[in-house]
Amino acid sequence: MTTRLRPLTPRLGAEIDGIDAATVGEDDLGLLRDALREYKVVFLREQRIDLDGLLAFSRHFGELMRLPYIRPLDGYPEIIRVLKQAHEIDMGTFGGDWHSDFSFLAAPPKASILYAEEVPRVGGDTLWIDMVEALRRLPADLRAALDGRDAIHTGAPYGVAHAPAADTRFRGSIEIERDNPEADRETRHPAICRHPDSGAEMLFVNPTYTTRIDGYGEAESKGLLAELYRHLLRPEFACRFRWRPGSIALWDNRNTLHYAVNDYDGQRRCLYRTAIAGHPPVAGG
Ligand SMILES: [Fe+2]
Repeated sequence: MTTRLRPLTPRLGAEIDGIDAATVGEDDLGLLRDALREYKVVFLREQRIDLDGLLAFSRHFGELMRLPYIRPLDGYPEIIRVLKQAHEIDMGTFGGDWHSDFSFLAAPPKASILYAEEVPRVGGDTLWIDMVEALRRLPADLRAALDGRDAIHTGAPYGVAHAPAADTRFRGSIEIERDNPEADRETRHPAICRHPDSGAEMLFVNPTYTTRIDGYGEAESKGLLAELYRHLLRPEFACRFRWRPGSIALWDNRNTLHYAVNDYDGQRRCLYRTAIAGHPPVAGG
């Protein structure tokens, strides 16, 4: 089969045909890595892999990491099941706000992979935001306010200090460890980072885990972050993916944010996820 790449938008997201994740070879991997560098999120359709196949596919992109605060699958410490069942209605979903995965770790994952086993007939899409383009289009005054500053991240949803209100908490089939004071520990990362592979500058903040910008008072920092999110959470920087059973998404977790849309009450959605270990983010500028 010939390999074909179909961009979802000019700079973010591309579907690739003609690759079988179960038997992927060096040529395919080269294409996947190139596409990931250029489009930041890549998608494969109609894949058939089991959990060992998902691990093997994931290892082509680096060392797997075990995620804190979420109970992994029995027998598979490096896989989490992202599951919402049909009876779980009127509640949040896992990943249901803009974030990059585990940005509060000293070394957040460099990439994440999702494999869809069962998805709603319609709904349950995932969106991504291009943080390179968001920075490129950032107004000069906002850029100046962030230059040389660190953003403070915490494991807010898993901790005590910034825990979400009880009625907005996801409390479904994923076993999340909550109210852990460890998760309140602050980690600082530069607000503007340089991508270690492409060299591109990008924003590295997100509404889920970033609590403030260092060097500003509480109110000023809050206002700055609100303005920043108003700028970057725009359709111009986004792509949206509609899952089908057997779809795989592989994304760069350093230069994108993502959001799982919770619009499919009454339908079951089950995906499996791995994360690839990364390095501490490096300042841009
Ligand atoms: Fe996520």
